[in-house]
Amino acid sequence: MIIRKTPAELEKMRKAGLLVWRILDELRKKCQEGATTWDLEVAAEAMIRDAGAKPAFKGYFVPAAGERYPFVLCTSVNDEIVHGMPSPKRVLKSGDIVSIDTGVELDGYFGDSATTVAVGQVSEAAARLMAVTRESLELAIEQVRAGNRLFDVCGAVERHVLGNGFSIVREFVGHGIGTKLHEEPQVPNYVDRKNENPRLRPGMVLAIEPMVNAGGAELRVLSDKWTAVTKDGSYSAHFEHCVAVTENGPWVLTRP
Ligand code: MF3
Ligand code: CO
Repeated sequence: MIIRKTPAELEKMRKAGLLVWRILDELRKKCQEGATTWDLEVAAEAMIRDAGAKPAFKGYFVPAAGERYPFVLCTSVNDEIVHGMPSPKRVLKSGDIVSIDTGVELDGYFGDSATTVAVGQVSEAAARLMAVTRESLELAIEQVRAGNRLFDVCGAVERHVLGNGFSIVREFVGHGIGTKLHEEPQVPNYVDRKNENPRLRPGMVLAIEPMVNAGGAELRVLSDKWTAVTKDGSYSAHFEHCVAVTENGPWVLTRP
């Protein structure tokens, strides 16, 4: 069942969403050569606590890993797709692309967003990967309209990514979000006719999060049990927003 939020609940989700946006906006500026992904983690945790919120990821049990995730951020660099773990040993250098993904719980409601940031000067290919991934999210957001169906959202990502010669990660998907970080429905970045294709209704909120590889779609998980990397070593990009269905079209909760 897909839970529909009342306008008052959406206002709470908006507050959580704007906090996540503020954090990512601050971290973006810190993605400089010589900084570590641990610097990002420390800054994010301070901002979350200062806002009176709770980190959504830290301590969150992920069945696929069989463990609780230990940090407030996922920082996934270059060929890392998702669930890269912040570390004082991971020093950023020019040419890196860093996906920063975080979530918060504020007043009982969740916000979740990710962005991919270029460090210094990145290759033309990396810049194009980031642009196409970001565009695929924007095209999906446009489809978050009452009366449309879930596949309109999934298909918008898929068409744009494949049309530009990149590949789509299939093992990780977007999700509904509300009083839990992950609610129904799953929001894959591709259309699979075996899945359900519910009609979108006002009050539904989707976390849409394309994960796009420059090379092949295949991934493997490192021995740390978390870090998912591309099998072929190609770069991967990730953007995510929480989007509410309203009578007046899509409402992106995780940006101003
Ligand atoms: N953004 C991802 C998601 O929405 C990451 C959360 S999983 C965690 O599913 F392990 F980091 F908590
Ligand atoms: Co998410």
